[in-house]
Amino acid sequence: MNNRSEFERVVYDNKFRVLIAREQIDDRIRELGRKISDDYRGKNPIVIGVLNGGFLFMADLIRHIEIDLEIDFIKLSSYGDEKVSSGKVEVLKEINADVKNRHVLLVEDIVDTGLSVKVLEKKFSAFSPASLRFVSLLRKTDKAKVDFDIDYVGFEIPDHFVVGYGLDHKQILRNLPAVYIMD
Ligand code: PRP
Repeated sequence: MNNRSEFERVVYDNKFRVLIAREQIDDRIRELGRKISDDYRGKNPIVIGVLNGGFLFMADLIRHIEIDLEIDFIKLSSYGDEKVSSGKVEVLKEINADVKNRHVLLVEDIVDTGLSVKVLEKKFSAFSPASLRFVSLLRKTDKAKVDFDIDYVGFEIPDHFVVGYGLDHKQILRNLPAVYIMD
C-alpha cells in the first residue's frame, strides 16, 4: 500500500534530487541580507514580496536585513497549475502601500522567462518610486526570454523545473525545506 503524501515521497523516498540544500539557502540569504542592509541604510525601503512563491524567501530575507524597512505583498500568476508560463501575467492582489518617492525592493522566488519582473517593472515605474530594484532567490540564466537585469540574485540555476522553498507543483510542495529538481 502506498498512501504516502507527495511531500513524504520527495523528502523521505529521495524522489527528486536536491538542487540547493537548506544550509546553502540560509548562507546565501545571510549574504544577501548584509548587502541589502548596506545598500539601503537610512532609506527605509518598502520590501514587496511577490506571492505566492516568494513568501518564504521574503520572510527569511527580511530577518537578515538589519535596518528599518516596511513590507507589502503583491500577488501574480502566470503559470497557474502548469509547468510552462502561460505568457500572460495576471495581478491577483494589488499592494496597499503608497510607493511614490519610496525605495522599493521587489522580492521574487524565481525569474524564469523574465516576464513577471518585466510586468512588475512597468507597473511599479508608473508609481514614481525613488528607486526600484529586484531580488530573486533563483534565476534561470540560460532561459530568460526577456532581457532584464536582476539587482540581487541568490543562485543562478540551469533550466529545470524546480519545487520547494516556496515553489510549487500544482500548488503543493511549497513547504519543502530545500529546492529540488522535479523533471
Ligand atoms: C512563478 C514565480 C514568479 C514567476 C517567474 O509564479 O513565483 O513569480 O512564476 O516566472 P517568469 O519569469 O517566467 O515570469 P507563478 O505564476 O507560478 O505563481 P506562484 O508564485 O503563485 O506559484
